[in-house]
Amino acid sequence: MSAPLYSLAFRTVFSRMDPEQAHHLVTRGLRAAHRLGAGRILESLTRPEEQLAVQVLGQKFPSPFGLAAGFDKGASAVLPLGSLGFGHIEIGTVTAKAQPGNPRPRLFRLLADQALINRMGFNNDGAAAVRRRLERTRQKVQRLREAGRHAPVIGVNIGKTKIVPLEGAVEDYLTSTRTLAPLADYLVVNVSSPNTPGLRQLQEIASLRPLLRAVQTEADAAAGSHVPLLVKIAPDLADEDIDAVADLVTELGLDGVIATNTTISREGLETPAAKVSVAGAGGLSGPVLAQRSKEVLGRLRERLPEGVVVISVGGVVSAEDVAQRLELGADLVQGYTAFIYQGPMWARRINRELLKLMAQLRAKRGSV
Ligand SMILES: Cc1cc2nc3c(=O)[nH]c(=O)nc-3n(C[C@H](O)[C@H](O)[C@H](O)COP(=O)(O)O)c2cc1C
Repeated sequence: MSAPLYSLAFRTVFSRMDPEQAHHLVTRGLRAAHRLGAGRILESLTRPEEQLAVQVLGQKFPSPFGLAAGFDKGASAVLPLGSLGFGHIEIGTVTAKAQPGNPRPRLFRLLADQALINRMGFNNDGAAAVRRRLERTRQKVQRLREAGRHAPVIGVNIGKTKIVPLEGAVEDYLTSTRTLAPLADYLVVNVSSPNTPGLRQLQEIASLRPLLRAVQTEADAAAGSHVPLLVKIAPDLADEDIDAVADLVTELGLDGVIATNTTISREGLETPAAKVSVAGAGGLSGPVLAQRSKEVLGRLRERLPEGVVVISVGGVVSAEDVAQRLELGADLVQGYTAFIYQGPMWARRINRELLKLMAQLRAKRGSV
């Protein structure tokens, strides 16, 4: 669907629907189209150019741009989403036990800000069910790669089951790690979603150190080889806390940091406060997040040793945004909210424009 067509469909159909229903409708449509053989056609239109490929976390990413966690929580549409041109798909957040998430409505659009507020609360089928889906997906990825076709890198993002108390968090994350690490190209410990009570307390170093250490050991043991491990942090952390997380990542020899998750702040919005407050509690995402996300990226890059990966996410809309994050030192870039507003050809458009921008950047660097 072209950008003007999607924009029309968005204005006339999707924006009038409950956002979560619209999400399911689009995902189901994409999966059906894929089953009917549209994957190959889409792929021929959207496959990232070879020059966009980057080597990160010991593997080849077909593009530095990928889909952030939360869109495909249960790994049910990895390949259909990959066929839209994303270089990687981060599935999850997955918890050890299946859980329904918060009561609906729990996803809200702020059209004037092209933003979203969500309090989904890690609705997902649980690690065991997701594992079965990932096993099947992995086999298909293998076949696609053997045939020289595009397949995305698959990241797996894990979080804490809501009913498990914080004291049991490490064991809970370890269950997900054992179950899913063998199927992950990289694993993410999510301690930054605002919608699971107490979760963000795990970002405190005294809690984070034992958690990350345990997951790091378990992931490699379960997979029988090294699984790159990253931690995903909130934009609401104070600068000193970001430095402290960076120092911990260095101390533990972790592979990287994903920055950032959604914010609990409501500052900087165009949408009238009364409308914002109707949405209620939850994480805010979209362009309003970009400034803080870039600050956190800059801070991490300065503090972390070279070689430790930073994945930048938060408010990315255009290829220029992606290029800017790369210039600021990100190794990979992700987006979610703009996908809802821009439609299925978003990644393709970013890849095409990014190719030109990267060529300009290389020429500029080469001429210095
Ligand atoms: C509806 C929705 C659900 C999300 N669910 C998750 C999640 O389960 N785990 C996670 O780590 N991040 C989740 N996120 C956060 C995104 O991965 C991303 O970090 C954030 O939205 C900022 O990027 P954006 O401005 O491009 O959306 C979610 C975001 C949205 C909008």
